[in-house]
Amino acid sequence: MTEAVTRPLPVVVLISGRGSNLGAIMDACSTGRLPVEIRAVIGNRPDAPGLQRPALAGIRTVVIDHTCYPGRPAFERALQLTIDSFRPGLLVLAGFMRILTPEFVAHYRGRIMNIHPSLLPEFPGLNTHQRALDAGREEAGATIHFVTGDVDGGPAFLQARVPVLDSDTAATLADRVLQQEHRLYPLAIRWFAEGRLALDEDGRVLLDGRRLEHPLLLAADSEACT
Ligand code: GRF
Repeated sequence: MTEAVTRPLPVVVLISGRGSNLGAIMDACSTGRLPVEIRAVIGNRPDAPGLQRPALAGIRTVVIDHTCYPGRPAFERALQLTIDSFRPGLLVLAGFMRILTPEFVAHYRGRIMNIHPSLLPEFPGLNTHQRALDAGREEAGATIHFVTGDVDGGPAFLQARVPVLDSDTAATLADRVLQQEHRLYPLAIRWFAEGRLALDEDGRVLLDGRRLEHPLLLAADSEACT
């Protein structure tokens, strides 16, 4: 057994709002299925509801309110200093609604991942569910990707799909996709924590030492994080 498997991976999670993906990650940790230690949760909004659960669980929570800084560089300097004080091996963006500059992202190259509620490269950015409906898609889904300076454009490695129903609104579709997000993120983090997942020098994703040509698709009926 390697050291990466036996020692929990230190993780910092960034959120802006509800924090349900963070909750799924915490659930997986508490059942022992995820070998990570969440060292801190950082929010950019003081009123983010998602800060409550980690605080109650005794996880350090920090607010770095972007509106209190004169601009993005100053905000990101404060954010980086705080993140780095926790010495994370992985930075997890879980509904963090600030665009990060390429300079910031480069500091965490290969150890920063994000979840996006669409089947990237389709529908980067906001309002993904309404856009999928407007485009008449029969399937929607979510994607986990390494973060690069290209917003929602970093190398994707794990996806889950859901059917789009005739009766769907953006809200019902978002709910169905979110259930899949909660399966995807703990699994992606577990792969990383176990040393199975990496970004190579060319910016390609390696899983178990092999380059992924396409994101893996998590089957609807598979167990997500065992
Ligand atoms: C999720 O849909 C995620 O894909 C997107 O923002 C949303 C965050 O939801 N990036 P939550 O805060 O994790 O509940």
